[in-house]
Amino acid sequence: LDRQNRLSSAELRMRLNQLVEHGEDDAAPKQLFEIADFVNQMQIYEGAMYEISTKLEILDTEFQVRFAHDPIHHMERRLKSVDSIMEKLERHGLPLTIESIRNNLFDVAGVRVICNYRDDVYSVSNYLSAQSDIQVLRVKDYIKNPKQNGYRSLHVIYAVPVFLSSGAHYTPVEVQFRTIAMDYWASLEHALRYKSDIDDAKLNEHEQTLLDCARSLQNVETQMQTIHRDINGAPQGGEA
Ligand code: GTP
Ligand code: MG
Repeated sequence: LDRQNRLSSAELRMRLNQLVEHGEDDAAPKQLFEIADFVNQMQIYEGAMYEISTKLEILDTEFQVRFAHDPIHHMERRLKSVDSIMEKLERHGLPLTIESIRNNLFDVAGVRVICNYRDDVYSVSNYLSAQSDIQVLRVKDYIKNPKQNGYRSLHVIYAVPVFLSSGAHYTPVEVQFRTIAMDYWASLEHALRYKSDIDDAKLNEHEQTLLDCARSLQNVETQMQTIHRDINGAPQGGEA
């Protein structure tokens, strides 16, 4: 198993206590103690992210074993960086506290599931959502209702119990389910949009082309899906 060197919140606290005892600055330590809590909270988000990805790997393997078909092409997972957590809280005018993160940010832990076919997106997400130990907090189906720019994906926020010495901590994980075609479009569009030196007007010039690309990809996806259904039969797990 992989072992990382981790920042220990206990050690951090010990050092902070020493700082307080030698007390030069009164204001700083309180904020610094929040850092220790933040380290603990991020460990919980990480646990939730691993639990969800393990569940998905198990489902994918089961499909391979039982149906000789792997629905998941690949997965990506990430924890939101400290910078983008702060940026998002500030953008929404929310306080920069751990409580505020817990109450307002549901995408600190994120898993992206890239499936081969659209049928796979719905069967994998339905099987995951049906699992009795996790809860579905929110669903946004941008496949049935694509965004105006052409973005498609199924977003589900789950609450996952992470068991620590203190008991179960229900923790949100944002899962984005999409096909390879949806991922191709979203990855390139994201890279174009976030290229730091580009101005909005320049990107707007290409708005219609991007939308056309999204539609073309959707057509290709539908045709490939039709061939797959013809050869392999109806999907296991059904559509939503
Ligand atoms: P955020 O503040 O971005 O989290 O918005 P939200 O909470 O309304 O979430 P939503 O479910 O609409 O989208 C969140 C995530 O989906 C983003 O962080 C992206 O990863 C992805 N996403 C949403 N819209 C787009 C889009 O137009 N293009 C691309 N490339 N990705 C998108
Ligand atoms: Mg989000």
